[in-house]
Amino acid sequence: MKPMIIFLISACMLLVMTACASQTATMTSADATVSVSNDSSSDETASVSNASSIDESTSLKDDKTGESGDSKILVAYFSCTGTTEKIAGWIAEQTGADLYEIIPESPYTSEDLNYGDSSSRTTQEQNNPEARPVISGESADIDRYDIIFLGYPIWHGQAPRIISSFLESYDFSGKTIVPFCTSHSSGAGSSAVDLQSLCSPSVTWLPCERFSADTSTETIEEWIEVNGYARGNR
Ligand SMILES: Cc1cc2nc3c(=O)[nH]c(=O)nc-3n(C[C@H](O)[C@H](O)[C@H](O)COP(=O)(O)O)c2cc1C
Repeated sequence: MKPMIIFLISACMLLVMTACASQTATMTSADATVSVSNDSSSDETASVSNASSIDESTSLKDDKTGESGDSKILVAYFSCTGTTEKIAGWIAEQTGADLYEIIPESPYTSEDLNYGDSSSRTTQEQNNPEARPVISGESADIDRYDIIFLGYPIWHGQAPRIISSFLESYDFSGKTIVPFCTSHSSGAGSSAVDLQSLCSPSVTWLPCERFSADTSTETIEEWIEVNGYARGNR
């Protein structure tokens, strides 16, 4: 009888130990799954937030902040002869955005704007990538905005250096920048791409749209509609 009892107790203990061992194995594999999936999701986030090229496939229609309906938009622009200013005004009107003019501390005279003169102020600034004309007036309250339309004229194929001053004056991390430009005949070229390195890699840059002086308000309306920038889409 006694050996029988010892045998039964041993059998029970063996069963309990086997059950514990298999539970431990399950927990270990579940832990591994969690940590792997966390790793892959953080990798995804990193690759999205580190994307520093212009996202050709993205419009504000796809922008998560836009979908939430409470995004705040700013139209910041620099303009010397009124073309960019006019378009900035239409964009602000049609999107319900606030307007901010980038004003140089030292205004550009007509001699400064003479782009046929190799010694004019603008030619010298554009030839010097380090030039940072000083901005005067009130600062823009960038923290209040999720989306910033950024408008400028093309000067010698590039954005005026004061746009670099503007971008280096604020932290645009996590925001979306929609660049647009005006010119006599040149396209946007690499103007917006060249500005990206001045901002955090977490900024989403949408493609730069170029407008001519005779652009109509209807054209702007259509651009806003096609890209989902309109009030109703926010
Ligand atoms: C210094 C300077 C350089 C310019 N360079 C170019 C150029 O490279 N290509 C072009 O098509 N237009 C060029 N333009 C014309 C302006 O881009 C165009 O007139 C623009 O719409 C002016 O914008 P604003 O009225 O907002 O200042 C230049 C104008 C200036 C003053």
